[in-house]
Amino acid sequence: MANQRAGILGTGHAYPEGILTNADLAELVETSDEWITTRTGIKQRRKAAPGEYTSMFADPSDIDLLLCATVTPDQILPSTGCIIQAELGANNAAAMDVVAACSGFLYGVALANSMIQNGQSKYALVIGSEILTQYVDYTDRQTCVLFGDGAGAAVLGPVEGDKGILGAKIKSDGRYEEQLFSPGGGTRRKPTAETLAAGDHFFKMKGNELFKVAVRSMAEISRDVLENAGLTPADIDIFIPHQANQRITEAVADRLNVDSSKVYSNIAVHGNTSSASIPIALDECVTSGRIKEGDLVMMTSFGGGVTWGGVLVRW
Ligand code: COA
Repeated sequence: MANQRAGILGTGHAYPEGILTNADLAELVETSDEWITTRTGIKQRRKAAPGEYTSMFADPSDIDLLLCATVTPDQILPSTGCIIQAELGANNAAAMDVVAACSGFLYGVALANSMIQNGQSKYALVIGSEILTQYVDYTDRQTCVLFGDGAGAAVLGPVEGDKGILGAKIKSDGRYEEQLFSPGGGTRRKPTAETLAAGDHFFKMKGNELFKVAVRSMAEISRDVLENAGLTPADIDIFIPHQANQRITEAVADRLNVDSSKVYSNIAVHGNTSSASIPIALDECVTSGRIKEGDLVMMTSFGGGVTWGGVLVRW
């Protein structure tokens, strides 16, 4: 039985100093600033330098549950969550990674929400942190223009009254595995000189197919979560979709009939930062004053797996 309502108490984000522009990419593959800008909305993205790891970009806090959403962990064992826990000295927390690609942050929020509701956790730190540029094949123009590095986080805890998380839903469909995947590096294709030379550890993507499923899934789950809370898309004050492609963002907003003035986008400067994209966007909205007390914030994501999610918050 759900008794304690959870809310988002704080947000933060960080990213590496290095910037990779469309012009830089045009020197690596046959592409252009014009193509990337019109097809994706991206102008630049952050790129970690050698020696910068996924765990280095996370935010500290005092917590009893630490969930790190990432598909680019520092190493296979232990989890990046445990590495961050040690860095923070968050010694009372249960720490783990959530592997749900670009939906990882909303997966983490949905899980933390349930644990706070049922009293198993009081304060949860949910992080999305990625260094995707290390898994991007800079000879594959379809993927290398999309991804960037960064991290964002939110602290969840108990709230009173009408505020807080009004609804959270997560879903996946593993039958779409090959739409976005990294086949090498695990036990199925363990890393060898051959798999490395073949680039099996890089992301492979069927962008066209993914585009359609992403739009459909994010629109559907947003509608579902709103409906369960007795609300409609017209009630949304700020819409924060996963920043995958500006055209995907616009298509989802169109399907929901959400006015463009309510849709947040930072893809031009960050590209697709996978699980970090929503917490970075959320923190930018909070710190810039774009999200105000009482606002209805709808977040939705889609990622490899395929996975998708929707979280609705009364701020
Ligand atoms: N620069 C220039 N041309 C490029 C290019 C690039 N970086 N990437 C692809 N092209 C070319 C293609 O080769 C193709 O050429 P052709 O017509 O001669 O065959 C043409 O552009 C159109 O390709 P297409 O794949 O149909 O383009 P698109 O409009 O679907 O855009 C993506 C491609 C990848 C940007 C788009 O499909 C996408 O964003 N998909 C979703 C990806 C995503 O979000 N993944 C993460 C999910 S969380």
